[in-house]
Amino acid sequence: MLGKKVPFVTFRTRVRDESIEGPNPFRWEDKTSDDYFKGKKVVLFSLPGAFTPTCSTYQLPDFEKLFEEFKAEGVDEIYCISVNDAFVMNAWAKAQGVEKVKVIPDGSGEFTRKMGMLVAKDNLGFGMRSWRYGAVVNDGVVEQWFEEEGFSDNCESDPYGVSSPQNILEKLRAAKVQAA
Ligand code: BEZ
Repeated sequence: MLGKKVPFVTFRTRVRDESIEGPNPFRWEDKTSDDYFKGKKVVLFSLPGAFTPTCSTYQLPDFEKLFEEFKAEGVDEIYCISVNDAFVMNAWAKAQGVEKVKVIPDGSGEFTRKMGMLVAKDNLGFGMRSWRYGAVVNDGVVEQWFEEEGFSDNCESDPYGVSSPQNILEKLRAAKVQAA
């Protein structure tokens, strides 16, 4: 994916709307790849599922903790994407107390498929999900790529290392030093 543009996709998000009365004041809001990526430098990380242990214990909370350090490296936004619907992604962000990292629901898997990262996880009863990866995306173009080893369907393990926030931050800093 290095040097390639991220696919153009419309994501079906759910946003809070105080004008809606009742116990569930949310409405649908479509957001496109352009809304998320155009004119911004972002870190995108993609994982196999909301509420799963490694993602909930390490990856998402660590990106949230390190958000200001990413900002200092010129990153405007950090996005967490998963093949989960907007209800699940919002519930996970709320449960995790995440305020800085933004979640993107790729419920249909369209973005993940077009990124070439869709894998079967039927061995876990998950269906089609994302292989774990991260990317630095500048104005929609992938500038740095962090794909976990062993891309495969029904993988018995869940490699996690290169797409960790610590590694991505280190590589961002190294790229800055090299460019100076
Ligand atoms: C984990 O994040 O630990 C995990 C992810 C996918 C399947 C099982 C576990």
